[in-house]
Amino acid sequence: MEAMFPIGKDKVMGENPKKPGAPHNVRLYSIASTRYGDSFDGKTASLCVRRAVYYDPETGKEDSSKNGVCSNYLCNSKPGDKIQLTGPSGKVMLLPEDDPNATHIMIATGTGVAPFRAYLRRMFMESVPKRFGGLAWLFLGVANADNLLYDDEFSNYIREYPNQFRYDKALSREHKNTKGGKMYVQDKIEEYSDEVFKLLDGGAHIYFCGLKGMMPGIQETLKRVAEQRGEDWDEKLKQLKKNKQWHVEVY
Ligand code: A2P
Repeated sequence: MEAMFPIGKDKVMGENPKKPGAPHNVRLYSIASTRYGDSFDGKTASLCVRRAVYYDPETGKEDSSKNGVCSNYLCNSKPGDKIQLTGPSGKVMLLPEDDPNATHIMIATGTGVAPFRAYLRRMFMESVPKRFGGLAWLFLGVANADNLLYDDEFSNYIREYPNQFRYDKALSREHKNTKGGKMYVQDKIEEYSDEVFKLLDGGAHIYFCGLKGMMPGIQETLKRVAEQRGEDWDEKLKQLKKNKQWHVEVY
């Protein structure tokens, strides 16, 4: 569920400074909607774009030279602007379409929630022939409650599908983990590790999307939990990959 955006060829924003006359390099974004789009008419695609602002540590002033090219282009675009795009690319994040009752454990940090927002719309909002009958469990890590994305949609699913949707948030700058450190998604996984391991043993698919930096911490946590359970994590991971239960898209 990715799209590529070779951004427009207009002289102001779209020209690659390193290759005069050529457009910018391709950027990959996860799409936060399904093929039906947010209006269910198949005419829109949603992205979850984060625009970062940098401040010079010495002067304290905004340093626009570090602005992200594509994020700013997208965030500054107006209704009606033309954007060149291609995709989708990549198959790691596809849903297991053969089993509408599969369990999906989704681990996201920040804008990594994008594909999961799309999955959950497909599962709970769209009228599709193979209605989702399984369990979807989202672990979402953000800095604080103000940074929660699509929280209203997710909270609705909890109300409407309490037996099929679980939603656990790790608010790193508001909550502490059991060791007094920041509460990260891996700490939430650890809290529910018994259930997570049981679900994986039962064939659940586990998806990761977001910061590349989250994977080492998550792997360490899963390894530690496996050892406590007397299991060999490396072997288990090999099996999960072999069974196509393990899906990772980090950046
Ligand atoms: P924090 O920034 O408080 O350290 P971002 O907004 O940068 O995409 O980050 C999303 C969330 O992921 C934030 O809560 C951030 O915490 C958290 N995060 C940062 N580094 C890691 C990591 N190594 N493992 C797990 N979560 C992380």
